[in-house]
Amino acid sequence: MGPLSLVLLLLSAQWSCAQEDPLLPFSEHLDPEHNVRLKWGFDEIQGTILFELTVNTSGWVGFGFSPKGGMTGADIVIGGFGPKGSYFTDRHAVGNSLPVVDQQQNYKLLYITESDGKTVMKFQRSVESCDDNDLSITNLPIKLIYAYGQSDDIEYHKSRRGTKEVNLLKYMPRVTPPNSKYFDMTMVNFSVPATQTYYHCKIMKAPTFDRKQHIYRIEPFITNLDLVHHALLYRCPPSVTVPLEAQCYTQLSINECMETTAVWGVGGGAFELPEMAGLPIGGNVGDVFYRLEVHYNNPNKSAGRVDSSGLRFYYTPELRQHDAAVLGTGLVVAAGYAIPPKAKSFHTYGLCDTAYIPKVLETPNDLQVFSVMMHTHLTGRKVRVGHFREGKQIDFLAADENYDFEYQEVTNLGQTKTVKLGDKLLVECTYNTENRTKLTWGGLSTSEEMCLAFLFYYPAMNLSGCMSFPNVTTLRSEMGSPNQSAWLTMMNNMTWNDTSINQYQQTLKKIDQLVIIADSFKNMSRNTGMIPDLKVIPSAPCMRSGCAIKSLALISLLLCLAVHWAY
Ligand SMILES: *[C@@H]1O[C@H](CO)[C@@H](O)[C@H](O)[C@H]1NC(C)=O
Ligand SMILES: *[C@@H]1O[C@H](CO)[C@@H](O)[C@H](O)[C@H]1NC(C)=O
Ligand SMILES: *[C@@H]1O[C@H](CO)[C@@H](O)[C@H](O)[C@H]1NC(C)=O
Ligand SMILES: *[C@@H]1O[C@H](CO)[C@@H](O)[C@H](O)[C@H]1NC(C)=O
Ligand SMILES: *[C@@H]1O[C@H](CO)[C@@H](O)[C@H](O)[C@H]1NC(C)=O
Ligand SMILES: *[C@@H]1O[C@H](CO)[C@@H](O)[C@H](O)[C@H]1NC(C)=O
Ligand SMILES: *[C@@H]1O[C@H](CO)[C@@H](O)[C@H](O)[C@H]1NC(C)=O
Ligand SMILES: *[C@@H]1O[C@H](CO)[C@@H](O)[C@H](O)[C@H]1NC(C)=O
Ligand SMILES: *[C@@H]1O[C@H](CO)[C@@H](O)[C@H](O)[C@H]1NC(C)=O
Ligand SMILES: *[C@@H]1O[C@H](CO)[C@@H](O)[C@H](O)[C@H]1NC(C)=O
Repeated sequence: MGPLSLVLLLLSAQWSCAQEDPLLPFSEHLDPEHNVRLKWGFDEIQGTILFELTVNTSGWVGFGFSPKGGMTGADIVIGGFGPKGSYFTDRHAVGNSLPVVDQQQNYKLLYITESDGKTVMKFQRSVESCDDNDLSITNLPIKLIYAYGQSDDIEYHKSRRGTKEVNLLKYMPRVTPPNSKYFDMTMVNFSVPATQTYYHCKIMKAPTFDRKQHIYRIEPFITNLDLVHHALLYRCPPSVTVPLEAQCYTQLSINECMETTAVWGVGGGAFELPEMAGLPIGGNVGDVFYRLEVHYNNPNKSAGRVDSSGLRFYYTPELRQHDAAVLGTGLVVAAGYAIPPKAKSFHTYGLCDTAYIPKVLETPNDLQVFSVMMHTHLTGRKVRVGHFREGKQIDFLAADENYDFEYQEVTNLGQTKTVKLGDKLLVECTYNTENRTKLTWGGLSTSEEMCLAFLFYYPAMNLSGCMSFPNVTTLRSEMGSPNQSAWLTMMNNMTWNDTSINQYQQTLKKIDQLVIIADSFKNMSRNTGMIPDLKVIPSAPCMRSGCAIKSLALISLLLCLAVHWAY
């Protein structure tokens, strides 16, 4: 980011106070009286976390991270807006005394304002700790401490202070809106077959409501934790009008219901939507059928197990600002490509080109993406979602560098990211097949593979998938096979070593891709595309600020930061 964009960022931050700030999606009051409000957001790729602390005082404010909840060992910032302008310092506490200013200033002040008896302090730091006096922020709950004074004379205070434990990086709000209720969509006494992998599908009506409701929380409802691997709920198109229960993907109507609405994977917990969005249900749309898909993983092939698992949906009639929806992106699940055995790090790619969305929708809009769930099977090791605009990669929408099949969940992005119509999203999956001796084909079973990223976004569109698949005709001819059976023989008979694996991977990536957009009514648009190159994820640098030490008014702060960032 250059100095100019930083200035623009600061100015826009000043003007957008009334609206939801996409960079600060999370919010908690730290005290019971609601005098201290913390908003935050983070950038997982850059390794930074942004805070905005609003305190009902015109004196100094202090905020920090504490190992045990007290002052000792705490990593603290103190700031305010006094007679001589604003002040802000990175400090640490050695006991119940005035925290000592750190030699190294690792917090970057973005602004401090004071008006109507309220002080607002916005600042940023690295997620990791950069010196011995700072604490690292992890995926676990951390004790936040705060204190504030009634004047700008910073002194130790017994009152106006407190502590609250919050998981900043894996935050799920726990709100209970008025009139909230829940319903379950589950299997009922289903006899799990004695086979290793079984997908059971149940097409059923959701409860009906006279007017639209918003689902704001989805919880797993699992009766056999050792057997149920994942549960997915898909919305059916209006053409599906009868309930049905059967093995998945064996009957036509099952294949019709493909619009992902809710997901839960083993190891995951409840998922709660941000306050400005809800998944719509009910209203004047008539009866909508949904397909519940439960994946049973029964490696012991136990017989006689009965299961009633599914999902629990909490909803409210108090509608939120936006309808949310889920978009499936990635690689179409089909057996047209295979991952070779003995590969340490093999990539597959799925391209979503949003430029084609207007081909299936009359009123398309940009996507505000807030959460994602990545999905591969057993050999998946990493999943990254690259974000491209006008031919250039501008970001990673999300990345999981330590993908674990046993621990899948919907994760918040840390900020609301805008995918503009025309942007491309590239889902890259990395697999390890060192322990395998045979090809791993794309497919539904856990021993086969997938490469998917489900994006949670608003405002909702009648869209179900944006995915791609390599052109298998091109793949065959590039590999010198005249037809499908000759290609299969060649694939199965190939000596897979580093050279041949690499060559095959490059072919798979460089050939043309079939890019498919599907709407909620099964209309599809078929297009072509090429796989762009993904950047390497930068390692998060430590943040240092020479600016913060001095007392600065906003304008000199801008100048200081601009000069600082220019180098
Ligand atoms: C802020 O503090 C003042 C003085 O203590 C109090 O009158 C006011 O109600 C407080 N405001 C909020 C929002 O708590
Ligand atoms: C499911 O099984 C339980 C226990 O056998 C039984 O009590 C219950 O009535 C069954 N439910 C249905 C809908 O068959
Ligand atoms: C399979 O059987 C083993 C040994 O009886 C047991 O420890 C394990 O939990 C079982 N796994 C499942 C998924 O039932
Ligand atoms: C999509 O499908 C619906 C129902 O099948 C149809 O009425 C509509 O015209 C289709 N829209 C487009 C853009 O093809
Ligand atoms: C391969 O198998 C060995 C032995 O079971 C195991 O220790 C190793 O972690 C496996 N490697 C991978 C990449 O799964
Ligand atoms: C989605 O389709 C339904 C049925 O045609 C329609 O009522 C609704 O307005 C559409 N939603 C959007 C966001 O376009
Ligand atoms: C796949 O590529 C072949 C040429 O290699 C081309 O004829 C065919 O139209 C392509 N298929 C699709 C679906 O784009
Ligand atoms: C596929 O190609 C092979 C090798 O050229 C040939 O022997 C075989 O007859 C072909 N099979 C079909 C079904 O065309
Ligand atoms: C597979 O390869 C072996 C030698 O590596 C060869 O003898 C055999 O004919 C091949 N099979 C096919 C079907 O091409
Ligand atoms: C990989 O296998 C091919 C074909 O068997 C062989 O020509 C090549 O030398 C092997 N490469 C390596 C690095 O082992």
